[in-house]
Amino acid sequence: MPMVQAGMDKDELVRSHGHILGLRDIDMEIAPGTLQVIMGLSGSGKSTLIRHINRLVEPTSGKLTIGGIDVLALDGSELTEFRRTYTAMVFQKFGLLPHRTVLQNAAYGLEVQNVPARRRRETAMRWLERVGLDGFENKYPDELSGGMQQRVGLARALAVDAPVLLMDEAFSALDPLIRVEMQDVLLGIQEEVRKTIIFITHDLDEALRLGDRIAVLRDGEVVQQGTSEEIVLEPADDYVRRFVREVNRGRFVRVDAVMSSDGAALPPGSGVTVDGAITLEQAARIMAGSGAETADVLGADGAIVGSVSLRRIVSTMIANG
Ligand SMILES: Nc1ncnc2c1ncn2[C@@H]1O[C@H](COP(=O)(O)OP(=O)(O)O)[C@@H](O)[C@H]1O
Ligand SMILES: [Mg+2]
Repeated sequence: MPMVQAGMDKDELVRSHGHILGLRDIDMEIAPGTLQVIMGLSGSGKSTLIRHINRLVEPTSGKLTIGGIDVLALDGSELTEFRRTYTAMVFQKFGLLPHRTVLQNAAYGLEVQNVPARRRRETAMRWLERVGLDGFENKYPDELSGGMQQRVGLARALAVDAPVLLMDEAFSALDPLIRVEMQDVLLGIQEEVRKTIIFITHDLDEALRLGDRIAVLRDGEVVQQGTSEEIVLEPADDYVRRFVREVNRGRFVRVDAVMSSDGAALPPGSGVTVDGAITLEQAARIMAGSGAETADVLGADGAIVGSVSLRRIVSTMIANG
């Protein structure tokens, strides 16, 4: 640790001491009820980071506090109890038990918690319905497609009603269209349940669709954390810029992130207004449809908070890095 703290890098540490530097200087705060994405290339330390949260990996040094609990201070049985009640995991390879039915799989976490049989059936059934699997409860995992199996994985995690949901590349094994479907399922559920979700992905489009905030890891270090817009509009370095380059900004950058709020900057009075919360793509469609070069931008309360030109929108959409 002293050598790492003095600045020894990952390559030198492994060369001279045979130790792998998993993570370094991780300083993150995740607001309850939000979805935090961790993104980075393969080997950047994403799994190592998420596994610290329920101490499947023990940190060599540091602090970890969840809902006021000092997680590193928990002893054996307290830690087991904490894992069962505070955290639930969704795995990339689904992790379903093949000899159990869909319903028995979905109820598994509750069984571990010793919830009475009837209540765990009811709860598991409710979540299976919520993820779109009613009618499949008596099937076995190998009778389901990958997307459906991951719905079971999600139902199983949600059934235990833990405040923290850990999802390590949970959708990475799915076909692109199914993957987007699952993102929608997750977002819909999150609107209701407001869990604190840590979601790992190496896919920027997925990160941008899901994340309230995104942290980008490289070689075990956080190179940038912020909102989607901060990451895309102001990438901290070339590594982040490489992720960002291919992204369609029009799909998620909001109008109010690029508008001008200086009343004199644009000629008013095109008569067209757009909501500041819509995306550039949506605004461009509205403006192009009505032949407007500029539009007034409305805030949440319906008052005009700025203005934007089609030119500004298009130049943001096509800028790269
Ligand atoms: N159990 C382990 N022992 C030693 N090194 C490991 C172990 N697990 C992962 N690593 C190393 O830690 C680094 C980060 O790995 P990982 O967290 O799995 O990355 P990611 O999930 O981003 O692909 C890699 O260099 C990997 O080789
Ligand atoms: Mg991983």
